[in-house]
Amino acid sequence: MADDTDDTIEINSSYRADFPALSKTMNGNPLAFLDSAASAQKPRCVIDSMDAVLTGGYSNIHRGLYEISQNLTQEFENTRKKIAGFIGASSEKNIVFTRNATEGVNLVAQSWGRANLKAGDEIIITQMEHHANIVPWQILAGQIGVVIKVAPVLSDGVLDICKFEKLLSDKTKFVGVVEISNAFGTINPIDKIVKMVRGYNSDIKILIDGAQGIVHRSVNVSDMDADFYVFTGHKLYAPTGIGILYGKYDLLQSMPPYQGGGDMIERVSLTYSTIYREAPYKFEAGTPAIVEVIGLGAAVDYLVGISMDKIMEHERKLLEYATQAISDIDGLTLYGTMDLTQKAGILSFTMDCAHSSDIGMILDQCGVAVRSGHHCAMPLMEAMGIDSTARASLALYSDKSDIDALIMGLKKVRELFK
Ligand code: ALA
Repeated sequence: MADDTDDTIEINSSYRADFPALSKTMNGNPLAFLDSAASAQKPRCVIDSMDAVLTGGYSNIHRGLYEISQNLTQEFENTRKKIAGFIGASSEKNIVFTRNATEGVNLVAQSWGRANLKAGDEIIITQMEHHANIVPWQILAGQIGVVIKVAPVLSDGVLDICKFEKLLSDKTKFVGVVEISNAFGTINPIDKIVKMVRGYNSDIKILIDGAQGIVHRSVNVSDMDADFYVFTGHKLYAPTGIGILYGKYDLLQSMPPYQGGGDMIERVSLTYSTIYREAPYKFEAGTPAIVEVIGLGAAVDYLVGISMDKIMEHERKLLEYATQAISDIDGLTLYGTMDLTQKAGILSFTMDCAHSSDIGMILDQCGVAVRSGHHCAMPLMEAMGIDSTARASLALYSDKSDIDALIMGLKKVRELFK
């Protein structure tokens, strides 16, 4: 169990001061923000980086010949390189700017999927996917008749790899798996899954939903060897409205555009065929989220400065402390009870005395922000026989005081609803 003298927790407590929102109070209490899996708070450096663009160097990019536009274009494209380095991609050409992880999956489904799949082809996903890695495939199934197979989850929240393997068949053309479950914190054995799928048939394409993975540990997409990897900025301490689709370059290059418009073309003609730019630009129609890209770059610099390994270590210690403390609350059921080495900083639970929405409301009165609901993972809730949980999620700025406030709040729930 972590304690007050723990070095990592002391070190990371100083990062808290980097996040202006954390000095706020909620209902008269210090804010214990434990909803970072939904969206993380932003450090001052991210806010300042965006402010600097908006107040001193803003223009459109890729279009202006004047100095401000040229400089911002360079900063924007340097950010693409920075992100490639952060996730271990071999080139910035592997990096497509999207709106969020959801748009990345939709792009793959509608571009690669529609161009390469046909009725009867099979897609494997898991029961613990976020809706963002389910619904785009259901839409595709409705459009072209692909068949979705689902790998089940065991009662402790771990993926049933044996049953997953049995779903692989000659009809399997695509596999989509979440790296870390946003609902229970399960860390899936992605390396093992990729090897298993490649060993079965190296032509099967693999997409990893890294929306939580990228937040909680160091990621190297080249080592991972998936074909696609998606994540969003706003969970990674960056602004909303910006996400990343990583793709192997030949694959991206072979895919048709997802949307049409300005900036994704070499030439447009009403007489001859319109010619598209190469990947990644052919997937970036219209003016992109310029300021948000700069904010994402600042978030990446900030995280590299701390080190993802250090963040992972800090969250692990805090998760151990929190798991122990929460397990002592009477009538509380924790979901995702696997070994903590297979789990990220997410605590999902129900109480026998109160519904998760009541838990959320009482915690709010105590200054504790958690998410109550299905966490956009309704099939996982259904598999567990519940409709919702209360979820406390950790970030690099979380510390022991947040967990202690949560525990006090849960004791209050117990008192009020006994
Ligand atoms: N996907 C986000 C969550 O897990 C919103 O809460």
